Amino acid sequence: VKKISIGLLGLGTVGSGVVKIIENHQDKLMHQVGCPVEVKRILVNDLEKERNVEVDATKLTKNVEEILHDPEIDVVIEVMGGIEETRDYVLTALRNNKHVVTANKDLMALYGSELLTVASESNCDLFYEASVAGGIPILRGLVEGLSSDRITKMMGIVNGTTNFILTKMSKEGRAYDNVLAEAQELGYAESDPTADVEGLDAARKMTILSTLGFSMKIDLDDVRVKGISSVTEEDLRYSKQLGYTMKLIGYAHRDGEEVEVSVQPTLLADTHPLAAVNDEYNAVYVYGEAVGETMFYGPGAGSLPTATAVVSDLVGVMKNMRLGVNGKSAVAPQFPKQLKNEDK
Ligand code: NAP
Ligand code: HSE
Repeated sequence: VKKISIGLLGLGTVGSGVVKIIENHQDKLMHQVGCPVEVKRILVNDLEKERNVEVDATKLTKNVEEILHDPEIDVVIEVMGGIEETRDYVLTALRNNKHVVTANKDLMALYGSELLTVASESNCDLFYEASVAGGIPILRGLVEGLSSDRITKMMGIVNGTTNFILTKMSKEGRAYDNVLAEAQELGYAESDPTADVEGLDAARKMTILSTLGFSMKIDLDDVRVKGISSVTEEDLRYSKQLGYTMKLIGYAHRDGEEVEVSVQPTLLADTHPLAAVNDEYNAVYVYGEAVGETMFYGPGAGSLPTATAVVSDLVGVMKNMRLGVNGKSAVAPQFPKQLKNEDK
C-alpha cells in the first residue's frame, strides 16, 4: 500500500498538534484511508529551537524548496501563518500538484478565491476547516450539513483569545494584560496578538463564514470591525450588575442581495446562549430559512483542537485521492465564482 507523505510548513502550536495526532491516531487514519501517513519534512524558522513534540531532527528544514519541489510529497499542510510569502508557497505547492490543507484565515480571507481557483485548475484539494473556529467543523457544517438551506443570519464568538480575556476579566476580575499574556502562553493568540484584540482575526473568520454561508463573495474591507482593547474591568463589572455579559460578536446578516457583516464588543443578556460560551471556546449561531436556529459550539483555539480540524481535512484529501476526485469533490468548501453585487 502506498504511503502518504506530508510536507508540514510550521511546527508551532498547531503544527506540533498535527504531528501528535498523525502519530497517535495512525490506526484510525489507516482504517479511514487504507494506507500509512508520514510527515516527511517540516519547515521551521529555527532549527535549534526546543519543540514540545518529539520529531526526528533530520526532518526539519529551513529550505521550503525541499518540500514544494519534492515529488514524493503528496500533501502540504500550511500551519506557519503569514500572508504574502505563504501565498507564494501555497500557489507553488498547488501548481506542483500537491494538495494543501491550511489553518490560515488571514490567507483565506484575502486570497481564498485565487487559491481555490488554482487548486481546482491543478485538480488539487485546498481545505481550510481549521481557519474558522478551531476544532468546530463549522465550514463543513455550512457547506455540507446546511447545503440545502438559505442561510440568512450568523452570529458568533469566533476568536478564542478575546473570549478568554473577556471571560477571565469578568469572572475573575483579572487585568487585561495579565490575561492576554496567559492566552499567548497557552497558544491561543496569534504571534502578533493585535489581530486578535482589535477584532481583525474575527473579521477574517466572518469574511470566510459569510462568503460560504451566503454563497456570495464578501470582502474583508466590507466588514465593520471594533476590538476589545479599550474594554475596561469597570465596563465588565457594570454590565454584570445589569444582567449582561460582554462578548466580541461577529454578526452577518443577509436580506436578499444586501449583506451586513460586523465584529464588535456586544452586550448579551445573561440568558442568551452565547453569553454562556466561556474561555477559549467559540460558538456560531446559524439561522437558515428552513432549518431555523442551529448552534455550533466547541474549542476555538489551541493545539490539539485546531490540529483535529487540520488532520480531518487531511483525511478528506486522502479519501478523495482514493476516489480520484481531488479538486472536484462536490462537498469541498468552495468560494462562489460570483463576486459582490457590483461585480455582477
Ligand atoms: P506558531 O505557534 O507561531 O507557529 C508557527 C510555526 O511556523 C513555527 O514553527 C515557526 O517556526 C514556523 N514559521 C513561521 N514563519 C516561518 C517562515 N517564514 N519560514 C519557516 N518557518 C516559519 O503559530 P500557530 O499558533 O501554530 O498558528 C499557525 C497558523 O494556524 C496561523 O495561520 C494561525 O492563524 C492558525 N491557527 C492557529 C490557531 C491556534 O490556536 N494557535 C488556531 C487556528 C488557526 P519556528 O518554530 O522555528 O519559529
Ligand atoms: N488567535 C485565534 C483565536 C486562533 O484566538 O481565535 C484560532 O483561530
